[in-house]
Amino acid sequence: MRRIGILTSGGDSPGMNAAIVSVARTAALYHMELVGIKRGYNGLLRKRADIMDDMQVFDSETVLDIADQPGTFLRTARCIEFLNPDVRAKAAENLKGMGIDGLIVIGGDGSFQGAKALCDLGIPCIGIPGTIDNDLAYTEHTLGFDTAVNICINSVRMIRATSRSHDRVAVVEVMGRNSGEIALRTAMCTGAEIVIVPEVSWGVYPIAERINQLMKIGDMRATVIVAEGVFKNQSMEPFDAYGLLSSYDANYQNIHSPNEPMNAKTLSEVLRRLSPGCDARATVLGYIQRGSAPFAYDAGFAFEAGHLAVMLLREGISEQVIGIRRGRVYYLPIREALATKPIFDRKLYDLVNSL
Ligand code: ADP
Ligand code: F6P
Repeated sequence: MRRIGILTSGGDSPGMNAAIVSVARTAALYHMELVGIKRGYNGLLRKRADIMDDMQVFDSETVLDIADQPGTFLRTARCIEFLNPDVRAKAAENLKGMGIDGLIVIGGDGSFQGAKALCDLGIPCIGIPGTIDNDLAYTEHTLGFDTAVNICINSVRMIRATSRSHDRVAVVEVMGRNSGEIALRTAMCTGAEIVIVPEVSWGVYPIAERINQLMKIGDMRATVIVAEGVFKNQSMEPFDAYGLLSSYDANYQNIHSPNEPMNAKTLSEVLRRLSPGCDARATVLGYIQRGSAPFAYDAGFAFEAGHLAVMLLREGISEQVIGIRRGRVYYLPIREALATKPIFDRKLYDLVNSL
């Protein structure tokens, strides 16, 4: 292979740049040209007038500049058109036209679906699992998960410095639209008393009951870790019917209507009503979880995965994704990886909520 491409797709994750750097250095070692493709699969569609907005040949100077940057230098995006087979055929044609012989895709399961489709069109692809969500079952860790969790742990500790000082309950929302992995790991590592995740159905009353029980034994300052996806189907309406909202102060009335889904702040407000004496306050951690430079685990994985991705392409092995199994970096066919569905660790979840 003389020329290969690389793109990042889906949500950015700590370690994406480190993986790009490792790919670039390995490619340079073997005299392969590396083309960075911008904004996920969008960059393959040649939608922009200036080709430099879509693609950029990496030189060693560029790579040195991004080595320590968080985020992704290549930008990332979702590309809905890529679900259309005609658009993917055009992308494959563009890649061939550019003389790009192989493609490295850093992203989550959606991005891997795109890579699999490109393989079917004759473009050799290798996937690196870049997502903070850790929702790919074939790998023990996805790139960025460990860093995101470390950020969450530190943040929870800081939040608790205040909540403990004031005997307050802390409701902390972490990322995970469909995955409770970050929430569960954060809860375990911080000794949080309650965790709520999208994989397990939940209700406000059992949470309030647990807080009441904790308060009875003297714990006035429980930590509740919530994954963002849990609020999808949780309407505020039942709490409005119980008159929980009508007695609120003017500020509260302004921020919520009963038809909206619940959020971390309104959950805290409801808990304050249902558990008298519980002074719950909410914090949403948001993008700080994705915006850090990678910590040791992710930086090391990025280094190995980037190198392996180039070596596989060089050896003519494609349609593979890289992951970690029993602590070691390995690879397996994309199809197999996508066929393995994640299983949420219900035992650990129950442990957090009962210890
Ligand atoms: P992630 O890769 O983190 O799971 P998404 O699910 O948003 O993130 O997918 C990222 C991108 O991958 C999508 O915007 C789209 O361009 C591409 N993609 C997702 N699903 C498919 C699919 N079934 N076929 C082809 N491309 C897909
Ligand atoms: O990358 C995964 C993720 O961070 C999810 O945890 C989260 O639900 C989603 O991306 C948020 O995406 P966006 O930043 O596009 O709203």
